[in-house]
Amino acid sequence: MSEIRPIEWTNGTLKLLDQTRLPSEEVIVEAHGYLEAVNAIKTMQVRGAPAIGVTAAYAVAMAAKELNIPDRDTFLQRLEEAGVAIKAARPTAVNLMWAVDRMMGFAKSEADTNSIKERLLAEAISIEQEDEAINRRMGSNGKDLIPDGGSVLTHCNAGALATAAYGTAVGVIRASWEDGRRFKVFNTETRPFLQGARLTAWEFKKLGIPSTLVVDSAAGMLMRRGEIGCVITGADRIAANGDTANKIGTYTLAVLAKENGIPFYVAAPISTVDMNLTNGDEIEIEERSSNEVTEFHGIQIAPEGVAALNPGFDVTPAKYVNAIITESGVARPPFIESLDLAVKSVS
Ligand code: MRU
Repeated sequence: MSEIRPIEWTNGTLKLLDQTRLPSEEVIVEAHGYLEAVNAIKTMQVRGAPAIGVTAAYAVAMAAKELNIPDRDTFLQRLEEAGVAIKAARPTAVNLMWAVDRMMGFAKSEADTNSIKERLLAEAISIEQEDEAINRRMGSNGKDLIPDGGSVLTHCNAGALATAAYGTAVGVIRASWEDGRRFKVFNTETRPFLQGARLTAWEFKKLGIPSTLVVDSAAGMLMRRGEIGCVITGADRIAANGDTANKIGTYTLAVLAKENGIPFYVAAPISTVDMNLTNGDEIEIEERSSNEVTEFHGIQIAPEGVAALNPGFDVTPAKYVNAIITESGVARPPFIESLDLAVKSVS
């Protein structure tokens, strides 16, 4: 099987596998300018923390290319404004802010506007390539956590589609499978946007890893019946103390896992760790449209005019997390120390 790559830069155009159309259609959409890339993030044609970061890096490179201003200071000021617009596309995944800040740092280190443009494109390409390498390292670091003959449950989509390639949580599952272990895989449908049913199930099928789709609310019952050996999810932002923001429903799974004596693992690159935040209460949670809850594929399923709340993410307190798998190893509690070491080892 050829590697799933949701983002491709070819001939000055950003090509994205439209994740709103999967699994029924595999459609490539093109972003020709940085605002089109921002729009693709907002509409979730591209989604998942690392993939948002890679897209944001290309958006900065495209914004620079679009600026026709010879004066370096004015150029940087306008680029900074584009960076603010890119960062505002979605609030929770810190990889978006991380990528823009990193790109702005490179821009500021160049002497003139032409070299800024060249450097930014080269750096966006390398952020994309790095992401795949990081995910493969994460897979290799975490693969032993999924025991042969056991079972694993994952939530949302933390696979290749959520990254440049290979995936984070799904990458760990995949690395363990590729290593020859055999185990049962469950994935939740992930209401209301159905990243699990639409995207993760599609990926496992492409990978040839048998998976069983369950409704989100079946997880507790399966755990109690002894059918889940461990849980592994991705993350959108991890605070310095290990509190982890991820797709809505992750907290529920983590509490249920602890109650049932099941290890709960998070797999995320160091770029998802936000050392500026002491704990998860400081993480901004995206509030999404109530239509995603009251409608299904555009069909109204709740009474007309009913109030609905749709937080996109929740925060799992660190006390429910047994380990955080990163490219620099497997961090264990106390995370305040182990994450600090992990972050320092890559900087
Ligand atoms: O709203 P989404 O689909 O962007 O949310 C994605 C998630 O919550 C993922 O679990 C997270 O970004 C990790 S992806 C490797």
